[in-house]
Amino acid sequence: MFITFEGIEGCGKTTQIRLLVSVLKAKGYECIATREPGATKIGHRIRTILLDAAHATMLPLTELLLYEADRAQHVHEVIKPALAANKMVISDRFFDATTVYQGYARGFDLELIRQIHRIVLGGLTPDLTLILDLPVHVGLERAWQRINSRPGVLPEDRFEKEAFAFHERVRKGYLTLARIEPERFRVIDASRDQQTVHRDIATIVDCRLRIADREES
Ligand code: TMP
Repeated sequence: MFITFEGIEGCGKTTQIRLLVSVLKAKGYECIATREPGATKIGHRIRTILLDAAHATMLPLTELLLYEADRAQHVHEVIKPALAANKMVISDRFFDATTVYQGYARGFDLELIRQIHRIVLGGLTPDLTLILDLPVHVGLERAWQRINSRPGVLPEDRFEKEAFAFHERVRKGYLTLARIEPERFRVIDASRDQQTVHRDIATIVDCRLRIADREES
């Protein structure tokens, strides 16, 4: 099973993935947590280029192609081999992030993005995508707190520095995707406390796993 987490900056994906993975492992599932951009050695270098705020002059096309380059490597090196070995894969962002950030928010042609995804993904789609939804001002406040709490660590804040309206388009973009494909997406209110959000996620995933087990037997 392939599960992806999406949402605006500061929505709490990283914490929720950690909590989910530990519950799944305790239940005996073999699972890996991965992320975009940056899950492979090459991807790690691409991430540094993408998120460095000094790269303010990066062309939208450069940005789009770098995310797709990272993804091509990620799908080939990490996701497909893990799924082939019957492991659960949980990814912190995947192709929906490009549709939303580069498409809905930056204004890239959605059909062009779809075509690139046909090449890069080779038919791979998540079984379940969880959108952690919360108001933009709450997410950005959390994101800046995290960045400022780590002095000395190279800040990955090129996107946090985008205008408020950009983040509003990201949030709306995710909610639009969830409306278009309701069977794959679940929208979770991430403005609540961590444990409440975690319980919702664990229930949704548990339900999916039971359906998948029933279909297999
Ligand atoms: P992260 O902060 O969740 O690790 O994601 C890094 C940033 O990259 C985040 O601001 C969202 C952005 N992003 C895109 O713009 N397009 C993409 O395809 C992906 C995967 C991330």
